[in-house]
Amino acid sequence: MKAVVPKQPGGPEVLEYVDVPDPEPGPGEVVVDVAATAVNRADLVQRAGHYPPPEGASEILGLECSGTVHALGEGVEDSEYVGIGREVCALLAGGGYATKVAVPAGQLMPIPDGVDLVTAAALPEVAATVWSNVMMVAGLRAGDTFLVHGGAGGIGTFAIQLARALGARVLTTAGSPEKLDLCRELGADVAIDYREQDFVEVVAEVTDGHGADVILDNMGASYLARNVDTLATEGRLVVIGFQGGSTAELDLRTLFRKRAAVISTGLRSRPVSEKTTICGAVAEHVWPLVADGTVRPMIGHTMPLAEAAEAHRLMESGGSTGKILLVV
Ligand SMILES: NC(=O)c1ccc[n+]([C@@H]2O[C@H](COP(=O)([O-])OP(=O)(O)OC[C@H]3O[C@@H](n4cnc5c(N)ncnc54)[C@H](OP(=O)(O)O)[C@@H]3O)[C@@H](O)[C@H]2O)c1
Repeated sequence: MKAVVPKQPGGPEVLEYVDVPDPEPGPGEVVVDVAATAVNRADLVQRAGHYPPPEGASEILGLECSGTVHALGEGVEDSEYVGIGREVCALLAGGGYATKVAVPAGQLMPIPDGVDLVTAAALPEVAATVWSNVMMVAGLRAGDTFLVHGGAGGIGTFAIQLARALGARVLTTAGSPEKLDLCRELGADVAIDYREQDFVEVVAEVTDGHGADVILDNMGASYLARNVDTLATEGRLVVIGFQGGSTAELDLRTLFRKRAAVISTGLRSRPVSEKTTICGAVAEHVWPLVADGTVRPMIGHTMPLAEAAEAHRLMESGGSTGKILLVV
């Protein structure tokens, strides 16, 4: 099969489109003929040599895909979701930048009604990340104030729509007037220009001092203290990215006074059993909202898989909104 493989750690130029051996399905796995995959920020970090795949995962980049089930491994029953020839999308620990990938059967999800096979590749990672963190970890409720940083990105565009659909008031940050407009179009009640405005002040102002009940954060260290300042009493800050570094100092008395929580989670390294639970919850709770058009997949760019290096340059430049798809 063909796959995109970094020839060494480095910039986008190290990505090569090469022939590699086909994957074999292990026990409990299926092999999918990939129709499309999507670029995630973690792929850039892995390519640079700073985010090795978890033990046992493919060395090939790619955390999600859509495609057609090609082969079933030992112990996998032919069923409604996983039968040979079924169209599916999947959450992967790696291996998506390829024409075939092996994946645990529990990490397959059906294609939401009304979504075409290629577009479905943009959904598994954002849906699983946002649902697991915002609902399962932070317990967002209707009427809560929700702040998501980077509202025009892959995670952000999905989080705005989902939180809005669940009845939250949605606040977000983005880095240009066009991106702020996109966030408002997607349902953000308040969009804050992180280059021009102080989100701590704006959130305090628009919530009459209440703050955010739940924050989904991609920045990590550089926003930690300000995020905690922005939390409401009993608020939950979930850090899912370290774009602003991973080491910071925090005055714990702010958390103490607010009875607030700071949580950080990664999806990729979770055990298959947890990913299976998350994928099941996504199919049950999120896919109906996608099928009825309440939550739309946001695709900024679509490119051939062989041009993965260009796709990485685009994500690094900050010039895209929503997801970047790579089509086989
Ligand atoms: N923990 C997990 O399991 C998990 C899973 C998936 C993703 N993630 C993380 O989630 C984050 C978003 O991923 P993605 O795929 O959505 O990437 P993406 O599409 O490249 O989005 C990155 C976002 O970062 C925003 N940003 C940059 N500087 C910022 C700042 N100073 N303040 C606020 N926002 C800023 C960008 O906003 P502008 O474009 O408006 O400048 C953009 O929206 C990444 O850090 C990724 O590693 C974590």
